[in-house]
Amino acid sequence: MNALEFNKYAAAFLFTLLALFIINYIADSAMAPHHLEESVYLVDGIEKVQKEVVEVEVPTLPVLLSEADVLAGQKVFRKCKACHTLEVGGKNKVGPNISNIVGRSRAANADFRYSSSLSDIGGNWGYADLDSFIADPKKSIPGTKMTFRGIKDATDRANLIMYLQSQTESPPPLPAVE
Ligand code: HEC
Repeated sequence: MNALEFNKYAAAFLFTLLALFIINYIADSAMAPHHLEESVYLVDGIEKVQKEVVEVEVPTLPVLLSEADVLAGQKVFRKCKACHTLEVGGKNKVGPNISNIVGRSRAANADFRYSSSLSDIGGNWGYADLDSFIADPKKSIPGTKMTFRGIKDATDRANLIMYLQSQTESPPPLPAVE
């Protein structure tokens, strides 16, 4: 094989290789599998399972209250002590005295200057009201003077509320567990 012949073969070989690459590329892009963004089957089933999981993970307030640990709640109350007294006749601090608070009317301390956001609501402090207020005061009552970032853990809140209830003379009945 002389040099000229070799070059011919080499060129033919390279050309074939290039052609194969091109064909392969075209074939690939023409037949590229499209991946589904969501699975088509079982979606119903999966959603049902997810709903059940959510229900199991987040017990409702009545359930949490019925299972609450009052002593643990007493410890949670430390977060409130800087601003609130709990005993009957206790003084107002940054926040009002909150004796007998469960079921008591809102903004009931005559000698405390409440925000109008709170005093305008009226009505009583029920279990669910306390729960949402303590979870996130500013979101629950926009404009409140209670500068407290809230207690995110639902069990901590339920324990605390049952501690407050244990210090309340005649609390309303617990919400029924469904
Ligand atoms: C930084 C001080 C501060 C902390 C901490 C704080 N509070 Fe308050 N709280 C206030 C103030 C101030 C008000 C009055 C709010 C208003 O007028 O809008 C208030 C109001 C309340 C009220 C309404 C009282 C009424 O007479 O209607 C309740 C109930 C309450 N706080 C519970 C709690 C609990 C429970 C905690 C602990 C988890 C807590 N607070 C922590 C300052 C505080």
